[in-house]
Amino acid sequence: MIVFKKAAGIARFIAKKKESGSTIGFVPTMGALHPGHISLINISKKKDDITVSSLFVNPTQFNDKRDFEKYPSTIATDIDMLEKAGCDALFLPDVNEMYPDGTKNERQYDLGYLETILEGKFRPGHFQGVCQAVHRLLTIIYANRLYLGQKDYQQCLVLQKMISITHLKTEIVICPTLREKDGLALSSRNMRLNEAERKEAVKISETLSFIKKELKTGYLEDLKERARQYLTAEGFKVDYVEIANAATLEPIENNDGKTPLVALIAAFVNDVRLIDNMLLKE
Ligand code: PAF
Repeated sequence: MIVFKKAAGIARFIAKKKESGSTIGFVPTMGALHPGHISLINISKKKDDITVSSLFVNPTQFNDKRDFEKYPSTIATDIDMLEKAGCDALFLPDVNEMYPDGTKNERQYDLGYLETILEGKFRPGHFQGVCQAVHRLLTIIYANRLYLGQKDYQQCLVLQKMISITHLKTEIVICPTLREKDGLALSSRNMRLNEAERKEAVKISETLSFIKKELKTGYLEDLKERARQYLTAEGFKVDYVEIANAATLEPIENNDGKTPLVALIAAFVNDVRLIDNMLLKE
């Protein structure tokens, strides 16, 4: 695997590969890699000729400075994991390489209502930061396909919107969430959980399964409220339990039994904020 620290270097590498007819699959990451990230690399390797990853903990997407400071960093292990997975190239920029003009006056994207709900509501500015980083990355790494995990469901929709606003030619491939045996969604943030918190955390995916099992046509508020109350009683600080249109993420009050739905949860186990989601009708 070739590791590039400079944008110009990896841009030249990509241009050469494209000239010779290769397709490029891209897996952007913030490091602290786990098998979920590696599953994206594997899917990319099946679909594209060249697989490129990036590792950059993007400061502009952290609305909470402490969260940024505590974000796990395991660069040497990450490089090793990518190498073993057969990733062809890694972009490992520093902040000046990503934001040569600084982070203060970065472009703002019109994300519409997507930015006002769920993660957008609880993490103001977060999705602007995600778009800034991924837009910059895609103008360096002109990928044919961008591989994203379904675990960050809203991020997938936001990046779809950013790609349409900016007329980039990249196609988004949403890949399934990888879970531990007991159902906990793999996440870099799980590294911050102690043993007791880890046991507690599984209740988020259990609650999503409960919603899926209990889902009926008609009003959904009661089901959401039962889920919220359960998590709160179990000691979580719940940001949201929502059931939304799986295609648009518009919250759904009344289930017509036809619209594909997704249930989404964000909740804190002590000071670790976890998110997860589950499609209710595939
Ligand atoms: O999902 C992530 O790890 C980040 O939001 C991303 C897409 C790498 C942008 O910084």
